[in-house]
Order: sequence, then structure tokens, then C-alpha cells
Amino acid sequence: MTEAPDWEQLRSSAQEVMRRAYAPYSGYRVGAAGLVDDGRVVAGCNVENAGYGVTLCAECGLVSDLVAGGGGRLVAVVCVDGDGEVIMPCGRCRQLLWEHGGGPCLLLTPEGERTMTELLPQAFGPDHLSGGGRG
Ligand code: THU
Repeated sequence: MTEAPDWEQLRSSAQEVMRRAYAPYSGYRVGAAGLVDDGRVVAGCNVENAGYGVTLCAECGLVSDLVAGGGGRLVAVVCVDGDGEVIMPCGRCRQLLWEHGGGPCLLLTPEGERTMTELLPQAFGPDHLSGGGRG
């Protein structure tokens, strides 16, 4: 799949799933949507917990949706806040996205489209491990 992602469609998928966020502690809802290389759209919302540290970010749900739905490579991802505005994934979630999309994966940011290579320079990833993450 080589055509440019339909950012508006992906953003609206992120906004839709954001409404289902479980964020009773922070009140900060997040939705994330990703386009997969086979054309699927995967999505997730944040799911908080009384043990604050075990909160699941929206991107965790997205990655789970990706893998449970048959896997594939993420080619484009967008995250939104409770107002539907584009936000940046936290550092930990950039690492999660790197695993499943790598450097070429595109992210919509408040400053426009960026590659994961730009957002996580010199990333640690599957290639650093013998077996390349498939072992
Ligand atoms: N959050 C995400 O879902 N993704 C991010 O990339 C940043 C933070 C969530 C976690 C928590 O439920 C809330 O936003 C406030 O940190």
C-alpha cells in the first residue's frame, strides 16, 4: 500500500474510539487509530485503573487490536485528545508503535506528518535482538 493515508478518516476513527475511553481518574480521554498495510483500520482508547501506574494508553489498545486482528504493519497512526485534537504519543507508546510500524510508519502530529524515525531517532528495536523479534 503506497498511497497517502486519508488522515481525516483516520482521525475520525480515533475520535470515535476516544469517546469510549475509560478515564475516571485523569479525565483525559485519548483515542488512537492506525492504518494497517492490508487496509484495515485498528484503534484503541485509554483504559485507566485505580492502580494509576497500570493504566493502559490508547496506543496499547491499538496494538492489541492490530495483533488480535491478524497482525500486519502499521503504516499511519493518529492520536487525539478528548476535544478531538491531534496529540503526540508518549515515549513508551512511540516504542510500542516502532515495534509494529518501524521507521517508515507515519504519524500525524500537531506540526503535520512525521515519520517514526523522526519521532524516535536511533530507536532500539527488533533488529537489535538476534532473531529480529521473531525468535
Ligand atoms: N495517554 C494515552 O492514552 N496515550 C498517550 O500517548 C499519552 C497518555 C493517557 C494515559 C492516561 O489515561 C491519560 O492519557 C493521562 O495521562
